[in-house]
Formats: sequence, structure tokens, C-alpha cells
Amino acid sequence: MQNALNEAKKGVVPTALLDQPLGSLIACFPGATLVFRQHRVGFCCHADQTLSDVAKRKQLDPHVIAAELCQLPKGPLNLPDVSDVAGFINFILSRYHDVHRDELVELIALAREIEIVHGDHPDAPVGLADAFIEMADQLDMHMMKEENVLFPAMREMSMNMPISNALAMPIHCMREEHDDHSQAIHRLQKLTNNCTVPDGACSSWHRLYSSTSKLIEDLVAHMYLENSVLFPRFE
Ligand SMILES: [Fe+2]
Ligand SMILES: [Fe+2]
Repeated sequence: MQNALNEAKKGVVPTALLDQPLGSLIACFPGATLVFRQHRVGFCCHADQTLSDVAKRKQLDPHVIAAELCQLPKGPLNLPDVSDVAGFINFILSRYHDVHRDELVELIALAREIEIVHGDHPDAPVGLADAFIEMADQLDMHMMKEENVLFPAMREMSMNMPISNALAMPIHCMREEHDDHSQAIHRLQKLTNNCTVPDGACSSWHRLYSSTSKLIEDLVAHMYLENSVLFPRFE
């Protein structure tokens, strides 16, 4: 992946990107989910599938999608190496756990405002603030389990080789909770018409949906990095 990212930084569209799972691309290219959405590529439940496999199934040209990812203004980002378990966990905590908590507070307030001001609009996202409140509670409990139990155990175990499979059960529980988060993401997508603002929507409504889209993107990347990069080291 690193070579592909270096090529992408030089403006070359690397063919190696085609073999990358969608989750990895989402983590490295901020805004990747906008590109996938424009091509009607579902990414929430396909984070483990490669760009070429997903494109083939949808009869799309993966080179076109890879080129559009490389044109996004903020990517590609370098991710930390998971062989440094403590560093990788610190990255997850600061880049995702802290950010989700901060953003959900703002999203709840903004969704409530839009529901009150535009409640009589046929496309108003009625129920979105409650959906964010439920998601915030669910995510907070999940992240606390990782922060207080699973991640400290992983840090400890990574310093005392060999790594055993003693964490298999808590990891299994976290994977199941990630599936619940995916269901919560589907609920957000449904309530917001897949983050599509109606014609003539005010700037706050635009901000609500772009922030919702960013939260979904971060959550998908976060779960991919745990499910497919961090957890397998302990299974
Ligand atoms: Fe996490
Ligand atoms: Fe998690």
C-alpha cells in the first residue's frame, strides 16, 4: 500500500490501488465515500472487498474510480504500521474515538435544529437527532470497552510475545458490536436520503448532511482498521 500511496502523491494513478480493500481506501483518502456514492458503490458492508472486485460486480471501471480518489484534495494519508500496536491504538483513539465523540455532540444539536425549523418539509430528517443520540450512547459504551479493557490487554500482550488467542472472545464481542454500528449507519443513510440535501436547503441543512457523511466515512474506516488490521494480529 505504501508504494501505491507514494505514487498517488506524485500524481500517478497506481494500479496497486485496485487491489486495496474499500476500507483501506476510505481510511487513506478523506472524501472517498463521496466518490463511491457518485458511482453508486455501496461501501458500508463491503469494506473488506477490493476496489477491482466491487467495480467488476457493478460493471464499473476501477481505474476511473482510482483516478478520482487520487484527485481528492486531502489524500492520500499515511496510516501507522500495525506492527507498532501501541502506536496504532493511539492513532485509533485520537483519530476516531475522540473525533466521533466531539462530532456527535454537534450533530445531535444540528439535527434537532433542522428538525424543529424544517419539520414540515417533506424531506425533513425526522428522527435524526434521536438516531444520533442512540448512536452516541451505543458507540460510547463500545469505545469505553475498547479503551478500558481490550486495548490495554493488546498493548500488554504485544510487549510479551508470543501473542496468544486469549483475546478471541472480547474481539468477537467487539466485532458483533461493529455490526450493530453498521445497522445504525444504514438508519442514518435512510433518514437523510443517503446524505442528499433537497433543492433549496439552507446552509445548516447542508452542513448537517456533510457532517453526517463525514461521520459515516470515519466510522467505516475506524471499524475496518479494527476488524481487518488490528484484531487479526490477536486472533
Ligand atoms: Fe474503536
Ligand atoms: Fe470498535
